Amino acid sequence: MVRTLIAGNWKMNGLNSSLKEVEAIVDRLSGLADGADILLCPPATMIGAMASMAGDRLKVGGQCCHNKTSGAHTGDISAEMLVDAGATYVIVGHSERRDDHAERSAYVKSQAGAALRAGLVPIVCVGEEYAQRKRGETAEVIERIMRKSLPEMPSGGHGLVVAYEPKWAIGTGEIPTMAEIGEVHALIRKVLVDNYGMEGLKMPILYGGSMKPGNAAEILAVADVNGGLIGGASLKADDFMSIYEAAIN
Ligand code: 13P
Repeated sequence: MVRTLIAGNWKMNGLNSSLKEVEAIVDRLSGLADGADILLCPPATMIGAMASMAGDRLKVGGQCCHNKTSGAHTGDISAEMLVDAGATYVIVGHSERRDDHAERSAYVKSQAGAALRAGLVPIVCVGEEYAQRKRGETAEVIERIMRKSLPEMPSGGHGLVVAYEPKWAIGTGEIPTMAEIGEVHALIRKVLVDNYGMEGLKMPILYGGSMKPGNAAEILAVADVNGGLIGGASLKADDFMSIYEAAIN
C-alpha cells in the first residue's frame, strides 16, 4: 500500500497575507483522521513562515532547486537552503519550469539528485503536450522523460514521488478520462519498478492537472493514483481540504 499524498503547488502566488489559508488548513486538519499525507509548496519567500505554523501534519516543500549546494548562482536556491527553511519535499521538473526556464530532463535529474543529497523527497514531474496525446505518443513521451529525469537512489534516500501532469490539463479545467489516467499511471509504476526494483512499488504517483473538489474522488479512485499535485485548487483552504477529505474517505 502506498500512502496517499495530497500536494498543493501555490506556484507564483502567495503573500504573507495568504498565511491565513494555512491557519485554516492546520485548524481543519486537527479535526480529521490522519489518513493521508498533506503538503503545500509555497513560493520560497514563504517557506519559513509556513513551516513555523504548519504543525505536525502539514508538510512544506519547495517548487524547484538548483543542483549545487551553494555558490555563484544569483537568484537560485539550493536543496540545502530549502531544508534550512523547513522544507521536506521539493517539486522538480514541473512543466512550467521546463517551459519558462528551459529546464531539460538531464538537469531535472540532477535537481532530484540534489534533493536526495540534502534529505528532501523530490517530486519529479512528467507530462505530455496535447498534440502528443492526439498523435498517440503519450506512453512513449512519458517513458522517455522519466528515463532521463529519474535520479539514482542513494542508500538512505528519503524516497521519491512522481507526478503525472498532462500539460494540456494544467489550469484549463480539462482532464483526461479515468481510463487514460489509469494507463499512464500504470506505465509510470512499471518504469519506477524497472528503475528502482521493489522500492518502485512504494513510491507515490500523483495526478496533476485541474484536480478540484468536484473530480478528486473519482481521480483518486483510479488504480496507481496515489494522490494529487494541485495548483489552483490549493490556494483556498476550503477547496484544498475538500480534496484532502476526498482522499481520506
Ligand atoms: P492546476 O491544478 O492549477 O491545473 O495545476 C496543476 C499542476 O500544475 C500540476 O503539476
